[in-house]
Amino acid sequence: MKSSLLPPALVACYDGLDQAAVPAGLELYRGKVRDVVSSGDLVALVASDRLSAFDRVLTTVPFKGEVLTRVSSWWFERTADIIPNHLLAAADFGGLDALTLSGRCVVGRRCAMLPVEVVVRGYLTGSAWRDYQAGRSVSGIQLPRGLNYCEKFPVPLVTPSTKEAAGHDQPVAGAQIVSSGLVELELWQQVEKTSLALFRRGQELAAERGLILVDTKYEFGLSAGKLTLADEIHTPDSSRYWYADSYLERYATGAQQRELDKETFRRWLLERGFSGDGEAPVIDDAVRLKTASRYIEAYEAITGTGFTPVMPLPKAAEAAIQRILRQLVA
Ligand SMILES: Nc1ncnc2c1ncn2[C@@H]1O[C@H](COP(=O)(O)OP(=O)(O)OP(=O)(O)O)[C@@H](O)[C@H]1O
Ligand SMILES: [Mg+2]
Repeated sequence: MKSSLLPPALVACYDGLDQAAVPAGLELYRGKVRDVVSSGDLVALVASDRLSAFDRVLTTVPFKGEVLTRVSSWWFERTADIIPNHLLAAADFGGLDALTLSGRCVVGRRCAMLPVEVVVRGYLTGSAWRDYQAGRSVSGIQLPRGLNYCEKFPVPLVTPSTKEAAGHDQPVAGAQIVSSGLVELELWQQVEKTSLALFRRGQELAAERGLILVDTKYEFGLSAGKLTLADEIHTPDSSRYWYADSYLERYATGAQQRELDKETFRRWLLERGFSGDGEAPVIDDAVRLKTASRYIEAYEAITGTGFTPVMPLPKAAEAAIQRILRQLVA
């Protein structure tokens, strides 16, 4: 996308749905990034341009909601043979293709969500590296001493965390998820196996595009009793990506990897003493623009196609979303 399109978009970010935009009879839940409207066993997920870090919403970023929705859809399509996902095909929703209409809304099966986020890690970095350096285990996994920053694990690790209603999600050991009754054993085994298969697929397809899928987070739910992949998949919000060609050289010197995700923004916050608690620093337009470019770059690198927003104007997007929501009541 032409970079000249970005500055004017700063004032046209989509802050999300408010109750007034939701037809009577529908339930609205505002997540940090997505607004979820439910009706019976259907949900409409509307991705706003809100940017969160360390579990706090901090600002908005132009086109982010579209990037996330379209990257997710790209991956859902390419992993549907591994596990059914929540997305409904247009044919199953009165012929209405929510994403094509709005750029940032999809309609899916409403799932009873499992109370855990399933993080899969291929490399020692991010919060796992921060825990490791501080001598802590990583979601109950005690790693051997002497590992390096950004080292590749011999096999990917599953490091779940609980989904907290408020505050920060907490790391939890797989065994504890089962022993505390959060998820029963057989289902948890299926979740772990599926997550590793999804991650493998993610790494393979990313590699074809010169990228490394470093780590990611999955959310599963049950729909009609069946394990279903929900929420988002392999987006720059839920995943870390590095450029493959510079990995080894940077690993050898302990340098920062060339990233395509939110980590640069997280580091910017950490450098200013913010890690989720207390007052956040003021996020200026330059940072919002840089972040927007990175999200768009991620879209283009992952999908191999140029990014042109379907609905650059939030007003128009919201009109399309309202049309979709009315269909949800019908
Ligand atoms: N198919 C689905 N059925 C029901 N809920 C879903 C489905 N897909 C996603 N969700 C839920 O919708 C919400 C999406 O919002 P978002 O990702 O912004 O939330 P979050 O900030 O990550 O989490 P939180 O809910 O803690 O605010 C999440 O709570 C997610 O679990
Ligand atoms: Mg989420």
